[in-house]
Amino acid sequence: MSPDTPPQDIAVRLTDVRLDRGTRTVLSGIDLTVPRGSITAVLGPSGSGKSTLLAALTGELVPAAGQVEVLGQAVPQRQRALLELRKGIGVLLQGNGLLTDLTVAENVALPLRTHTKLPRPVIDRLVAMKLHAVGLRTAGDLYPRELSGGMARRVALARALALDPPLMVYDEPLTGLDPIASGVIMSLISRLNDSLGLTSIIVTHHVHETLPVADRAIVIANGRIVFSGTPAELEATTDPLVLQFLRGEPDGPIAFDTAERSRETA
Ligand SMILES: Nc1ncnc2c1ncn2[C@@H]1O[C@H](COP(=O)(O)OP(=O)(O)OP(=O)(O)O)[C@@H](O)[C@H]1O
Ligand SMILES: [Mg+2]
Repeated sequence: MSPDTPPQDIAVRLTDVRLDRGTRTVLSGIDLTVPRGSITAVLGPSGSGKSTLLAALTGELVPAAGQVEVLGQAVPQRQRALLELRKGIGVLLQGNGLLTDLTVAENVALPLRTHTKLPRPVIDRLVAMKLHAVGLRTAGDLYPRELSGGMARRVALARALALDPPLMVYDEPLTGLDPIASGVIMSLISRLNDSLGLTSIIVTHHVHETLPVADRAIVIANGRIVFSGTPAELEATTDPLVLQFLRGEPDGPIAFDTAERSRETA
């Protein structure tokens, strides 16, 4: 996208961002522009900093350097302003985070009860609409333990959508799902993005499931963005580092943490 894209067309912009965890720099020199309405896949090996990048968007992690702008404003540090911004970001985390002693409908209603003063019948109506949107119209009275992994992920998706956030971020939305459930989730993410006019950022190492729905892809490795372009450009890459990741090869230019590798091979 061109550098003079009008600010209202940009959902997320990172400018020369550095992200540290403790004394360690996880990512540096990160420049990223996410146009409104687009789906961006954030790819990269385990431990490369994908979740860390998301934490900077939600204000959970304050950058050590650089600027992070989300939905037209710099991510605020003041608690109140930050909470306000977060209402505009729907987050789907790997673990679903459903409350086990609430029904599906009560789980989806939770953000509406917490953040709005809407009357009960309106909330019930909104919950029914969100469940319908994820294909679970009749599941409202079930408890999370009664759901398959794919259904639970869709309930978590409905809950993330509850406040109609313009920006959705997904952290490993396919983890633990079989290929069919994965296909259902990816096509839901794509359809919701288009029908509701959302912007979506999908963090994943499921390259082949995610690229078909993505408009843009970035690959992070070795503490920086090593690829940024369209899915077609990614598939045509000859960069040895990116190829190593795409092919899942253990040896190559991507440096793996030795401690982690010896644990994995133990
Ligand atoms: N809260 C934290 N405190 C300290 N270090 C952290 C924290 N979260 C992540 N890290 C470190 O930052 C690095 C990047 O982690 P991150 O979770 O962002 O990777 P990831 O790309 O999301 O990996 P995965 O694909 O396994 O989820 C790792 O070395 C991790 O140990
Ligand atoms: Mg992660």
